[in-house]
Amino acid sequence: MTKNFINLDDLSTNDLQQIIDQAITLKKQHKSGEINKTLENKTLAMIFDKSSTRTRVSFEAGMTQLGGHALFLSDRDIQLGRGEPITDSAVVISSMVDAVMMRVSSHDDINTFAKHSSVPIINALSDESHPCQLLADMMTYQEHNGSIKGKVVAWIGDGNNMCHTYMQAAKVFDFTLNIATPKDYEPDQKFIDQYANCINLYTDAKTACKDADLVVTDVWASMGQEDEQKKRELAFEDFQVDVALMGNAKSGALFMHCLPAHRGEEVSADVIDGKQSLVWSEAENRLHAQKSLLLYLLG
Ligand code: CP
Ligand code: NVA
Repeated sequence: MTKNFINLDDLSTNDLQQIIDQAITLKKQHKSGEINKTLENKTLAMIFDKSSTRTRVSFEAGMTQLGGHALFLSDRDIQLGRGEPITDSAVVISSMVDAVMMRVSSHDDINTFAKHSSVPIINALSDESHPCQLLADMMTYQEHNGSIKGKVVAWIGDGNNMCHTYMQAAKVFDFTLNIATPKDYEPDQKFIDQYANCINLYTDAKTACKDADLVVTDVWASMGQEDEQKKRELAFEDFQVDVALMGNAKSGALFMHCLPAHRGEEVSADVIDGKQSLVWSEAENRLHAQKSLLLYLLG
């Protein structure tokens, strides 16, 4: 059966841990100049209907480093963006490539594409989730602080796609997730119901950060929500991760943000650019984690 990576918890804890461990090895090999051409002659199609820096560069560079090739397919250029059915696109594209990575607005479209695809599908961010980012985040935590099992993670801000994926990660990697959001910006009820055992919901950021080993945030207005920017700035004004808020977490607590970030909004410059911040490792690890994922799906 074709393996996909659409939701983080599509894969078992064991498989995810192996992908992360292998990513750490691949990183060391890459830094020592070792060549790995395991994906020679393989092609990854990358379908984007939203902007990207990290996801595009990491998948494209990753395929090149593994001896394969990546195709950048913007919805402005392919017929999918002009109304060709997603089902037809899936049959055709998957008949020519070895895997497809999709960053599209609708999570349902990824599921539909996967149903009609003959090759593995990777969710590279949807309105619901961003599992590739969590592979990199969990790898980064492990590299800097060992196992995340039993730790406390505080999610501060919007109950968005990244927050949903942290909820899935809490279940898979067995940590407690304290989520602080303003009223009306909670995670989707479907996720709250499904992951109720691993999460605590708060409307106060300080309380959520208490005893946290890791504090995580994301933009207040995600891609597609630009017209809500002003309204969201008001709703989220008490949810900035700054030095005072970090002071409620454990001493030495780490900070993560998937980027792109808005300094002075969801995070202060002294936190994101400070010594508790792991944002550059997180970004770099997208490359190594996704190379490992590609080897898992195509190997
Ligand atoms: N974190 C992340 O997915 O970044 P991009 O939007 O730049 O791909
Ligand atoms: N929540 C953000 C994440 C960007 C990587 C968005 O969807 O725009």
